[in-house]
Amino acid sequence: FAAVDVIRAKRDGLRLTDEQIGWVIDAYTRGVVGDEQMAALAMAVVLRGMDSAETARWTGAMIDSGERLSLTCSRPTVDKHSTGGVGDKITLPLAPLVAACGAAVPQLSGRGLGHTGGTLDKLEAIPGWRAELSADEIAAQLDDVGAVVCAATPTLAPADRKLYALRDVTGTVESVPLIASSIMSKKIAEGAGRLVLDVKTGSGAFMKTRAQARDLATSLVEIGAAHGVATTAVLTAMDTPLGAAVGNAVEVAEAVEVLRGGGPSDVVELTLALAREMLALAGLGDVDPARVLASGQAYETWCRMIRAQGGDPEAPLPRPAHVHVVEAAESGTLTRLDAYGVGVAAWRLGAGRARKDDPVQPAAGVLCLAKPGDRVERGRPLFELHTDTPEAVSAALPALEAACTIGRDSDGDDSAFAAGD
Ligand code: URA
Repeated sequence: FAAVDVIRAKRDGLRLTDEQIGWVIDAYTRGVVGDEQMAALAMAVVLRGMDSAETARWTGAMIDSGERLSLTCSRPTVDKHSTGGVGDKITLPLAPLVAACGAAVPQLSGRGLGHTGGTLDKLEAIPGWRAELSADEIAAQLDDVGAVVCAATPTLAPADRKLYALRDVTGTVESVPLIASSIMSKKIAEGAGRLVLDVKTGSGAFMKTRAQARDLATSLVEIGAAHGVATTAVLTAMDTPLGAAVGNAVEVAEAVEVLRGGGPSDVVELTLALAREMLALAGLGDVDPARVLASGQAYETWCRMIRAQGGDPEAPLPRPAHVHVVEAAESGTLTRLDAYGVGVAAWRLGAGRARKDDPVQPAAGVLCLAKPGDRVERGRPLFELHTDTPEAVSAALPALEAACTIGRDSDGDDSAFAAGD
């Protein structure tokens, strides 16, 4: 094969053959096909698309670029993947809950980039907790505790690692077949037998409209089926942050509240809904996750899961050096709290990173003290901004200001903000 022929074929709207796809992914991973050629091919895919058989083959080639874990475990394995949102800490309560219900949850996760947080960044706020585990450690913890949330090993789908970084800088992220194959190559390589996908839609999500989210969900489920992984997808709204906490330690604290029987109702509801989907796939549909959550068993499993990775679940979480309180400028009803704006604010406070290798502040984030539909009173706290770098507050405030609207008692919507501290 010559890379230029594969590029020309896709540029001209032709279907790529299995052999072309297998060759080009392998050659790219080995450095035989260069970044400039792969970028041209990725752009041709963005513009021309791939059908479901091509997408499944593309995914298979990315899986074959590395190792596929085989997680033999006495319990059925089932994983969850979210396409990413603001305040989406659902993995934290969900993995131990589903494990406490009798399934095994291997969840290999990533770090955050931009306005959406990463599960590993959140868990790393727990003193002592370690994200990097070997394949043997993952298997042993899965057998013993039933839940592992850790970093994807570099040997899983290395072609995706390289290609995703290239897409990020060449305007080629936004393609359903490329996104779906990227997500599924990592999930299938990690070895879970079943998978539930939480496809987010709305301002804080990758997919801004329901139609786009539905296309992505369909593609993800088709790839799972083609590779023998039982896959279901749910579409959930990401117009407003999940829960009250957006950041790292603040999200861990909220997840622990849920595991101890409290927490915001939207976080509890989504955790239970995804648990039901996962248990149904695992053949444990008769177990009631709400009962297991209320019994405290999910919290016990959480503590074991954190300890198994060197963390201390009882240790105080990091506190920020600086807390800035924003007060409501008006009395009325909070009519809008935009996920994207809150995510950007948390990121600017230090909770997220702009470049792949930037550090994050474990204590940084935003607490939303009111949610859409809540009544707010002029002069009462609306947000708490947490950061170790007080100068970041002035960068975060405009994003928050644009993110929320208070409907005044007397007339229409107005800006929600008073400068507070
Ligand atoms: N997440 C991924 O893992 N890959 C993409 O291409 C987009 C989002």
